[in-house]
Amino acid sequence: MPVSVAIDGPAGAGKSTVAKKAAAVLGFTYVDTGAVYRSVTFFCDRAGVNKDDDAAVSKALEGLSADISFKDGAQHVSVNGEDVTDMIRTPKISSLTSFYAAKPCVRAFLLELQREMARSRDVIMDGRDIGTVVLPDADVKIFLTASPEVRAKRRYDELRAKGENVSFDDILSSVNQRDRQDSERSAAPLKQAEDAIYLDTGDMDIDAAVQRVVDIVRNEVCK
Ligand code: DC
Repeated sequence: MPVSVAIDGPAGAGKSTVAKKAAAVLGFTYVDTGAVYRSVTFFCDRAGVNKDDDAAVSKALEGLSADISFKDGAQHVSVNGEDVTDMIRTPKISSLTSFYAAKPCVRAFLLELQREMARSRDVIMDGRDIGTVVLPDADVKIFLTASPEVRAKRRYDELRAKGENVSFDDILSSVNQRDRQDSERSAAPLKQAEDAIYLDTGDMDIDAAVQRVVDIVRNEVCK
C-alpha cells in the first residue's frame, strides 16, 4: 500500500517549501492541492463566470476537467488541457481562490482528483483539509503552522528582497484576512485533524522544519 502524508496549515506557514523538500528526501511525490484550486479559479475568472452566482460556477465546472501531472519532478496543473501552472500565483488569484475554495461545489469537484493522486504512489500532499477530508486515513498527518506575524514577516522579507515596496501592516492584514476566509468557511474549513501532529515552524528555518517532517514520517511509518 502506498504511504500518504497529509500536511495542512494556513497560508504562508512554509508548507509547500517544506513538503516539497521532505518529499525529495523521502522519495515521495509532492502534491500541491492549492494549485488545483488556483487553476479552477483562474479558469472561471478568465471565462468571466460570476463568482457570486453558485449556479453559474457549478455550470462552468460541468464543462471543465482539471488534471495534475509531473514533468521532471515538478507538478503541473492543467485545465481543459491547457497548462496554467505559471499563471496562478498572482495576488489577485490568491485572494480569489480563497473565495472559490469556500464553495462546496468546487470542493466536491476537486475531491476525487486529489484522492486519485494518493492511490498509486507515496505522496506528501499539502492543503487545508487533506487530513480531515481528502485523506482521513492518511498514514501521517501534520498540521504545520506559525503565528500570523511570523508568516507576514517571512512574506515581507521575501518581497523586499525582490525589490518590492510593500508595507508590513498591509501584508499582515492580508494574512489575517486569508486565515479568516479559510478557517471560517462552512465547507471543509482549515482546522487541525484530531490525530495530526502540531508543528509550529516559528523558530525553525526551512532545513530544520524539513528534517522534523522527515523524522516524523520515518517514525510514524516504521512503527
Ligand atoms: O496553498 P495555496 O495558497 O496555494 O492555496 C490557495 C487557496 O486554496 C487558499 O485560499 C486555500 C485554498 N485551499 C483549500 O481550501 N484547500 C486545499 N486543499 C488547498 C487550498
